[in-house]
Amino acid sequence: KYLQESVVTEECKKLILSLPTEKDWVANNLHQYQGFWHTARHLQAVLVCQRHFQAEDSDILLVTTPKSGTTWLKAIVFALMNRDQYRNNNDHPLLSENPHVLVPFLEIRLYIDGRVADFTKFTSPRLFGTHIPFSSLPETVKNSPCKLVYLCRNPKDTFVSIWHFTNKLREKGVGMGTNSLEWSFDKFTRGVSLNGPFWDHVLEYWKESLENPERVLFLKYEDMKEQPKVQVSKLAKFLGRPFSLEEETNGVLDGILKLCSFENLSNLEVNKTGKLDTGEDFNAFFRQGEVGDAKNHLTPQMIEKLDQITQEKLHGYGLKF
Ligand code: A3P
Repeated sequence: KYLQESVVTEECKKLILSLPTEKDWVANNLHQYQGFWHTARHLQAVLVCQRHFQAEDSDILLVTTPKSGTTWLKAIVFALMNRDQYRNNNDHPLLSENPHVLVPFLEIRLYIDGRVADFTKFTSPRLFGTHIPFSSLPETVKNSPCKLVYLCRNPKDTFVSIWHFTNKLREKGVGMGTNSLEWSFDKFTRGVSLNGPFWDHVLEYWKESLENPERVLFLKYEDMKEQPKVQVSKLAKFLGRPFSLEEETNGVLDGILKLCSFENLSNLEVNKTGKLDTGEDFNAFFRQGEVGDAKNHLTPQMIEKLDQITQEKLHGYGLKF
């Protein structure tokens, strides 16, 4: 699938000729469109999405940069919003379906490869995932009161997670050797990663969350790990579905956290053996699910460089990791 340049329309190919281009981490190239890097396949989908997606006021968009905990966020919000319907965890859809199937990506699934997205099966409120930067979101999303939940993760762990993930795709998906840590680090720090520059992506949503806190909720992966109850309660309140005292007493929130935990999801048969219809194995989305793994891979110089970029780009806006 990663080698399918043919799915890209002539219009997109023409646009690509005018865009800065660099080698992708998996295969083919990345192209910088509206300031952010996309593969041709994803760029094509972003263009169609920008043109065709009609936001509804009640929509909920779950936004991340790749490897920031998207799978986890999708599971939690799905469980949260559907908690009355699936009181009994034994027949919960999350036990038999991967979160990316239950909460599809706009550009990576619904609009991919020239698909005409079918929204007829969605019930309100509709849940979508996306990696599209704020400035490139479809106008109907920007002009709608729909809710955006942004989950970000510290750049060091995010980078290490992308490095592992893309190497897995290279080895299994396209039968190519792995990228060295140094090669990947150079790309990431120059901003050349899928939907990167990482820092610009985060900053756009951070600013938006400060300006419009009722529209954009900004969460951190590390806070979710440290204080899951506090963060998920905040999320529920933001989405207009706060946990009642009765629910808290009855362990509904605890049940959701357990259902969506790394241990539970990663050990389910569907997530061990299943595959997305866009090609990726579900198990590629589960590796360790821990905070701080970067220190096991990066040199002190690499850590210093990432901290320095984060300081330069984000600290001035009050965003620290
Ligand atoms: P690691 O590679 O550090 O383990 P995404 O879902 O955005 O693709 O991000 C994947 C990262 O989230 C991986 O990080 C993965 O292990 C972690 N992850 C997946 N499911 C998780 C869960 N239920 N809880 C916490 N982390 C999870």
